[in-house]
Amino acid sequence: MLYRLAREAFFKLDAEKAHEMAIKQLSSTQNTPLDVFYRQHLKKRPVECMGLTFDNAVGLAAGLDKNGECIDAFAAMGFGFIEVGTVTPRPQPGNDKPRLFRIKEAEGIINRMGFNNHGVDQLVENVKAAKYNGIIGINIGKNIDTAVENGKDDYLICMEKVYQHASYIVVNISSPNTPGLRSLQYGEALDDLLKDLKLKQAELAEKYNKYVPLTIKIAPDLSIEEIIQIADSLVRYEIDGVIATNTTLERSMVKGMTHASEAGGLSGRPVQSLSTQVIAQLYKEINGAMPIIGVGGIDSVVAAKEKMDAGAKLIQVYSGFIYHGPGLIKNIVENY
Ligand SMILES: Cc1cc2nc3c(=O)[nH]c(=O)nc-3n(C[C@H](O)[C@H](O)[C@H](O)COP(=O)(O)O)c2cc1C
Repeated sequence: MLYRLAREAFFKLDAEKAHEMAIKQLSSTQNTPLDVFYRQHLKKRPVECMGLTFDNAVGLAAGLDKNGECIDAFAAMGFGFIEVGTVTPRPQPGNDKPRLFRIKEAEGIINRMGFNNHGVDQLVENVKAAKYNGIIGINIGKNIDTAVENGKDDYLICMEKVYQHASYIVVNISSPNTPGLRSLQYGEALDDLLKDLKLKQAELAEKYNKYVPLTIKIAPDLSIEEIIQIADSLVRYEIDGVIATNTTLERSMVKGMTHASEAGGLSGRPVQSLSTQVIAQLYKEINGAMPIIGVGGIDSVVAAKEKMDAGAKLIQVYSGFIYHGPGLIKNIVENY
């Protein structure tokens, strides 16, 4: 009820203004008595995955708290894990505004933010300052002005900086809003990237005496052959987990709706079935070699169960959370 009122007010504003305001309010009220407006006490439903214990299976997806400014607020809502980022080595402003659009009739969102973030150093400071001691995933990317051929260097720089502070690391090669980024999902470029990431992981594990699982986040816009190839590479390089999926470039599900032809990645209910199909195919191909974190259009207990039935061990939400608020987390955690 409370969220429905807040949503009504936020939805009167431009989408990015609303987002900025929400982040500001959450960061200023977290760890104060005012967190009573969103704090939820959820039944504990721990999940063991990648050698870590998650408080429950429902996580916050990347992109909502890009700089890790509201970790304690999201923890208070009852998320079982929190993924921050995508973060890049250097701060960058992202694409020109407007770049965030609601597709209300379909409970969808189109974004072409372009990895706007304050840079990895600031993110690490924010993670260090958080009181939350649960699972934090740190999602890393490349700066827009780093050539795709040198993209690997950006991931390695970020990995080195976040390693000690992350419960798991996500290598985002599936944003549609950084030109060329998705090409890293294929063939030799993927193998070359995975090889060096695993070498870096081994080096850092020894240095810090701590093994931090490495996961790869993939797009929903992949053919069956491409999923087979990606799965083969992930298994060969012993990647610890895969996050499926990011936003889609597909538009058929929102055809004719307001903002449907905006450039960027589409998320929310319109991507739900596509993402589930990718998870099911991937699950078949990786044959239990690593866990899948399922994300894409989860907006109900039924949608959460569909992802898990398709093979996801953990799930994440972004757009569903925007449309339904913290109550969605509680509902899923207590009823899946
Ligand atoms: C505004 C917005 C920004 C996002 N930014 C990122 C990001 O920085 N990194 C990332 O890996 N995914 C990002 N995503 C993708 C989400 O994490 C998620 O994979 C996708 O939206 C599908 O889930 P959903 O339907 O629950 O939103 C973003 C999504 C939205 C809507």
